[in-house]
Amino acid sequence: MGSSIVPAFASMAALLFGFSLLSLLPEVAVGITRHYTFNIKYHNVTRLCHTRSLISVNGQFPGPRLVAREGDRVFVKVVNHVTNNITIHWHGVRQLGSGWADGPAYITQCPIQTGQTYTYNFTVTGQRGTLLWHAHISWLRCTLYGPIIILPKRNESYPFEKPYKEIPITFGEWFNVDQEAVISQALQTGAGPNVSDAYTINGLPGPLYNCSSKDTYRLKVKPGKTYLLRLINAALNDELFFSIANHTLTVVEADAVYVKPFETDKLLITPGQTTNVLLKTKPSFPNATFLMVAKPYVTGRGTFDNSSVAGILQYEQPSHNSSIKNLLLLKPTLPALNDTNFVANFTRKFRSLANAQFTATVPQTVDRKFFFTMGLGTMPCPQNTTCGGPTNSTKFIASVNNVSFVLPSVAMLQAHFFGKSNGVYTTDFPTKPPVPFNYTGTPPNNTNVSNGTRALVLQFNTSVELVMQDTSILGSESHPLHLHGFNFFVVGQGFGNYDPNKDPANFNLVDPVERNTVGVPAGGWLAIRFLADNPGVWFMHCHLDVHTSWGLKMAWIVLDGPQPNQKLPPPPSDLPKC
Ligand code: C2O
Repeated sequence: MGSSIVPAFASMAALLFGFSLLSLLPEVAVGITRHYTFNIKYHNVTRLCHTRSLISVNGQFPGPRLVAREGDRVFVKVVNHVTNNITIHWHGVRQLGSGWADGPAYITQCPIQTGQTYTYNFTVTGQRGTLLWHAHISWLRCTLYGPIIILPKRNESYPFEKPYKEIPITFGEWFNVDQEAVISQALQTGAGPNVSDAYTINGLPGPLYNCSSKDTYRLKVKPGKTYLLRLINAALNDELFFSIANHTLTVVEADAVYVKPFETDKLLITPGQTTNVLLKTKPSFPNATFLMVAKPYVTGRGTFDNSSVAGILQYEQPSHNSSIKNLLLLKPTLPALNDTNFVANFTRKFRSLANAQFTATVPQTVDRKFFFTMGLGTMPCPQNTTCGGPTNSTKFIASVNNVSFVLPSVAMLQAHFFGKSNGVYTTDFPTKPPVPFNYTGTPPNNTNVSNGTRALVLQFNTSVELVMQDTSILGSESHPLHLHGFNFFVVGQGFGNYDPNKDPANFNLVDPVERNTVGVPAGGWLAIRFLADNPGVWFMHCHLDVHTSWGLKMAWIVLDGPQPNQKLPPPPSDLPKC
C-alpha cells in the first residue's frame, strides 16, 4: 500500500499557505496547494502471460491521477528508487514562470539520479480539462505515465451538460520485454525498433490478445446518463483510432481547452493528445454489451504493432438473474489503417469554443515566420560495420530542417540561465530548410542529415507563425508534434507542399483549435501560431518516441521580458545536477 497522496493534511496546510500568498498578491486567483509524492520503484506486472519488472509510480500501473483545479499550485516530490535516471514531464501544463518544472531531460533539468529527489512546483493557470504526466527520458514513459485532471475553479461549471461521472481512459503500449533494451538496441544497429506486444486501456490489453481476457477494462454504466470520458493517448509510438460500438461521442475539449462540441462515432488521438468526450448512455437497458476498441493509424513504412485493444462498455443489469454472458457483444467499425482522409476531416472538426468566457486569443499579426521540414533521413553507418537502416551502410535518423537534434549532457535551461551555453548548444537552428526541394515529391538522392544541438532564440512576447512540412524522404508519415510551454493555434493545414502565396488566405484566425500536440499530416503541412510569452527553454518534438530518439526535436529559447513577472526565476535549490 504505497499511496503517498496526502490530500487532506496537505490541503489544510495549503489553504493556510494560499491565504498568505493571497494577502501578498491580491490579484492572484485563490487556489489551493496540492502535495503529491511520486515514489519511482520497480514493480512486477503480468500481461499476456509475461511478467516483467517495470518502473512505476507508487506501485501503480498506470500511475496515479494528479488532480487539481484551475488556479491551484501543485508540488510533486519525485523520489527515485531505481537505477535509471528519471525525469517527469507535466505534458501540456503551460509552466508559466516555472520552466524549471517542465521536465524534459537535458532540456530543462538534469535527470534525478538514483536515491535523489526533486520537487516539481507549478501553478495551473488558465487551463481546464485533461492532460497527462509522463517520464521524459529515453523510453521510460512506456510505463511511467498517468492522467492530469484539471477541474474548473470552485464556483465555475463546464460549458456543457454536467456529467454524471468522469472516467479517465488512458491508452498505453505494453512490451513483454524491457522497452529500454528495445530502443538502445535499435539506436545501435540503426534499424527500426521492435514493436510493442499490445495496446492497453488503463493498463489492460483486453480480450483480443492471447492470455489476456481477464485483463480487460470494463466501463460499467447506468442507462440514461451522461459520462465524461477523459481520453489520453500515452502510447509510445502509435496514433490510435477509437470507437465504441453503437454509441456516439460528443467531443467537448482537447488538450485542456474547450472546443465547439461536435459528435462523432470514431476518433483519432495521437500520442500526447487528450480529448474529453461525452458519452450518453442508452435510455434503457440495451440487452447487449459493447466493445470499445482502439487500433493504430499508420502512414509510415516501418513495422508497427498491428493489434487492437478492447475494453467493454457494460450496462448495469435491471435484474440480477440474467448473466452478461448471454448478451450480444457488439463490435465497432474503425477507419482503415492508413485512412488519411478520415484523419484530415476529423482534425478539421476541432474549433476553439471561442465564446465570451473562453476566448481564442489567436495572434492576428506575426512577428516571425518559420518553415520547418520534418521527416526521416539517414546517417552513414560507422566504418567497417553493418547497420540495419534503409541500406546496410546507413542508420535511420529523423530531423527538423535537416538537423537531427542531439541532447546535450547538461541541461540547456541551466546553461542559458547562467550564460554558459558555450559548448552546450548554439543558437543557429535553421529558420527554413537549408536546401529547398519538392518536399512531398520524389525525394532527393542524398538523404543524410546533420547533427547538432541548435536552438532558436525568440524575444519575449514574439508572435510566431510556424509552418511544418512533412517530407517524403523514406516515406511520408504523420508526425504528432508537441510544443512544451505553450498552446498553439492550428490556423491551417493541407496536403502537398505549403504554398506561402496561396495558403495563408485560407487560415482560420477566428476560432482555430488551441492545443499542445497536433499531427502534421502525412504528405502535407500544418501552420500554427503562438505567442512566446513564457521565458525559458522549450522543447518541441514528434511525440512518437522513436522519432524523438532519432532526432526529430529542437528547442526554442524565449528570453526574459522587461517586467519582473516576465523573467525566468532562478532555479530551485533541489534542481538535480548532471
Ligand atoms: Cu509529452 Cu516532450 O512530451
